[in-house]
Amino acid sequence: MNILVTGGAGFIGSHTVVELVSAGHKPIILDDFSNSNKSVLLGLKNIIGHDVDFIEGNCNDEDTLRKVFKTFKIDGVIHFAAAKAVGESVKKPLKYYELNVGSLIKLIKVMAEFKVTKLVFSSSCTVYGEPDFVPITESTPRKPANSPYGNTKTMGEDILRDTVLAGGNAQFISLRYFNPIGAHESAEIGELPSGVPSNLVPYITQTAIGARESLTLFGDDYDTPDGTNIRDFIHVVDLAKAHLAALEYLNTVPSNFYDVFNIGTGKGYSVMELIKTFESVNDLKLNYKIGPRRTGDTVKIYGDVKKANDVLKWKTEKSLEEALADAWKWEQKLAKK
Ligand code: UD1
Repeated sequence: MNILVTGGAGFIGSHTVVELVSAGHKPIILDDFSNSNKSVLLGLKNIIGHDVDFIEGNCNDEDTLRKVFKTFKIDGVIHFAAAKAVGESVKKPLKYYELNVGSLIKLIKVMAEFKVTKLVFSSSCTVYGEPDFVPITESTPRKPANSPYGNTKTMGEDILRDTVLAGGNAQFISLRYFNPIGAHESAEIGELPSGVPSNLVPYITQTAIGARESLTLFGDDYDTPDGTNIRDFIHVVDLAKAHLAALEYLNTVPSNFYDVFNIGTGKGYSVMELIKTFESVNDLKLNYKIGPRRTGDTVKIYGDVKKANDVLKWKTEKSLEEALADAWKWEQKLAKK
């Protein structure tokens, strides 16, 4: 299949491009490099052995989207392109609503014009808010989002659901990601945040390499065994493979279809456990200090992934140790560039 990958130069998008190629599909990247770097294309070429088709552009623009669908015969779409900084979204809500919600609406409209029915959407476990119990299942009602960013994911899911409910040919899946970390084992691609990272693992690797003085752990007084937050950290390559499984599943469903899947490991690790694992796997000491809580952080969340295991026939294969070793290998490789 020819698969349009919006945001294909980003962290999850680039790893998904690799998995698409290795499964025999042809990815076409649409990216405006607003939070990624053109060097990703070289990394992809080094892994895949040839250039990947790509169009530089913003998918919040119908004409750009039409150009892509006219240039390539698209069989399905994976929509990653979005802004994702929780803190920034609180300060600039309109940017997030305009970009994340606007691009999804335009994409669905243009897909319909070109009679493309299959779409896999990047949603997030943030739609669950602070769960009442863990592991959390897909049937658990969502809670009001705790940031405009999170709300764009809830709204995105609703837009997909309502479009399918309205009838017609639309086969949509939302994947609710837990916390993706790690990098490709080749260290050719990985997480490349611009500016100061807001996510945990890039902050850890940048601290370990000396680019940041120390990591601040946001709170150790939560109601968890060691007082730090608990998350479901999933290797980005495992997450990438879930998109392939979702696309393949869409080949088997009715012409009017919508569903949601949790994509995580099913296990929770605390932030402190992650730091300790990073230190032991990579045989180093991390400079970190305990700071105040970060506003809006969920205390404890990890996913029940049985539905994805059973229906998508997908499961994770990589461990937290592998993810943290790969993340460190990638940071070291970046430092040599
Ligand atoms: C958040 C969003 C998630 C979104 C992701 C994208 C929520 C609840 N979750 O994930 O939906 O997809 O961002 O960016 O809004 N931490 C530190 N020090 C740091 C950085 C992080 O201690 O310097 C801690 C945080 O307090 C948190 C954990 O590490 O407990 C993970 O943080 P992060 O990587 O930012 O991801 P989430 O907040 O879980």
